[in-house]
Amino acid sequence: LFVDADVSSGRKIPHTLFGIFFEEINHAGAGGLWAELVKNRGFEAGGPNTPSNIDPWTILGNETYLIVSTDRSSCFERNKIALKMDVLCDHGSAANACPDGGVGISNPGFWGMNIEQGKTYKVVLYVRSNGPINVSVSLTGSDAKTLVASNIVASHVSNWTKMEVLLEAKATDHYSSLQLTTTRKGAIWFDQISVMPLDTYKGHGFRNDLFSMVQDMKPAFIRFPGGCFVEGSWLRSAFRWKETIGPWQERPGHFGDVWNYWTDDGMGHLEFLQLAEDLGALPVWVFNNGISHNDEVSTPNILPFVQEILDGLEFAKGDAESTKWGSLRASLGHPEPFDLRYVAIGNEDCGKPNYLGNYLKFYVAIKQSYPDVKIISNCDATAKPLDHPADLFEYHVYDNANAFFSQSHKFDQISRSGPKVFASEYAVMGDDAGKGSLLAALGEAAFVIGLEKNSDVVEMASYAPLFTNTNHHSLGSITFDSSRMYGTPSYWMQHFFRVSNGATLLNSTLQTSSSNPIVASAISWKSSVDNKNYLRIKVVNFGSSAVALKISISGLKSIDSIGSNIVLTSNNVKDENSFDEPKKVVPFKTPLENVGENMNVVLVPYSLTAFDLSI
Ligand code: AHR
Repeated sequence: LFVDADVSSGRKIPHTLFGIFFEEINHAGAGGLWAELVKNRGFEAGGPNTPSNIDPWTILGNETYLIVSTDRSSCFERNKIALKMDVLCDHGSAANACPDGGVGISNPGFWGMNIEQGKTYKVVLYVRSNGPINVSVSLTGSDAKTLVASNIVASHVSNWTKMEVLLEAKATDHYSSLQLTTTRKGAIWFDQISVMPLDTYKGHGFRNDLFSMVQDMKPAFIRFPGGCFVEGSWLRSAFRWKETIGPWQERPGHFGDVWNYWTDDGMGHLEFLQLAEDLGALPVWVFNNGISHNDEVSTPNILPFVQEILDGLEFAKGDAESTKWGSLRASLGHPEPFDLRYVAIGNEDCGKPNYLGNYLKFYVAIKQSYPDVKIISNCDATAKPLDHPADLFEYHVYDNANAFFSQSHKFDQISRSGPKVFASEYAVMGDDAGKGSLLAALGEAAFVIGLEKNSDVVEMASYAPLFTNTNHHSLGSITFDSSRMYGTPSYWMQHFFRVSNGATLLNSTLQTSSSNPIVASAISWKSSVDNKNYLRIKVVNFGSSAVALKISISGLKSIDSIGSNIVLTSNNVKDENSFDEPKKVVPFKTPLENVGENMNVVLVPYSLTAFDLSI
């Protein structure tokens, strides 16, 4: 491998190249990064009609003691369903005394609430009653033992009343539930019941452990909130930003019919922008362009949708004093505008009957009001030029590992004069990937090396999906449940590229007599930690045998004698990480000695290696 380390003959890699794609899929947000512990907190998930399905709430006590129903009496106009508990038993009645512990309702959260000793949880609920109430609010472990409890007592709540309780857990149980119980006869209505840990990232509502897994990737941007989630199977289920802002109690929530689950939209437009800011990443907003999987708004009728998006841009970027939506943002706690520079018009909609017509309406209106905002088209321009204006176009690829390896040359020959590439969704899928294998990560690494080498035309890239709750779907680069998490090999593969954003791509030429498929790239960068210059050579050995490789580096001004060797490999190429073995396939760092202009190294079978040299 010949590497020319002279930066003047290299090329700057865009600062934006490697980022992440957050989609509300696999309970990435609801039951994931968003720390809300109650699932179906407003009882809306069963739809707007009564009687409604209150799943996953369960009833504590049988119908001798209480009758639970739903009605449309909520004080919240956009989510009218409330839960009614007719308690028939009474603490004072010998004939029909309530069972020990009372009767009531219980919520298991998203496959169990993670309640941790010493941590405080804020319970908020809305209640009304036809008499005095005495309700026990408790967090209960999976063994039915109470971890912490408090009582809500009031003599008069005939109108909807907000109640708040802070609970400090006395013990830990990762699969707890919330229980609301009483031993007092009468009718009680509940609505909008929330349990939030106080300990979230900067108090912004993001689960700390998952947030730091993402932060460690050092993403340059975050594309959100989908994916198909943005489109919906039908437009009625699309993500519409105006329905996702303001007080959480008043958000209607919606059923994401592509991934088949309800979300309360706790993570709404503002929270996504906040997440980007907290990560130090540029927000990339994908909005619905009037097209879902099964229905479309025709171009003559698209103007209200265009206005909705202009309003959403003003919400993100508008002045806090002089603009309507900017001042709403300020009133919600964020007076400073967000640094929103990229928007995507739809998701995977190219070729649909109204895509081009609608696209042009959005494009013209956005460029008129926000000329600096870069616009991303859904149409793949790798084969032929676009027939419409765009700053970037999206490229999505899901395939097997061999196909991915071949994709390392995908962008070598494409036109350099058109819009830039945004490889916004890529992942090895199917048997090769399993639940996240080394094989998948190596195929992807080859593809990503190809992106890096073509970063004169590729401006951005992100793996998909980012997260998966293990109880839902099976593949995402970070797998988690209520309290545990691990990165798949694909997650760790992305760590090899963390220093690439803004680095210099060096010229490198690979000549090898090995029959193994191999790809390589070389970059140099100045570390912000120690201010030193580094050279990183990354090589994928996609074959089952070891390869001896000679690395010759020219154009060096200086070089330290010791570097490091970081390898992602395992005994079996199909190896995966798991909750039991979260570090089975993770990068392994060892010193690299006898570093020089000419080095003989060995690439172990099925591996991604980074050779880091201090220069
Ligand atoms: O990543 C899962 C889905 O794959 C995305 O929602 C969609 O854009 C693509 O089809």
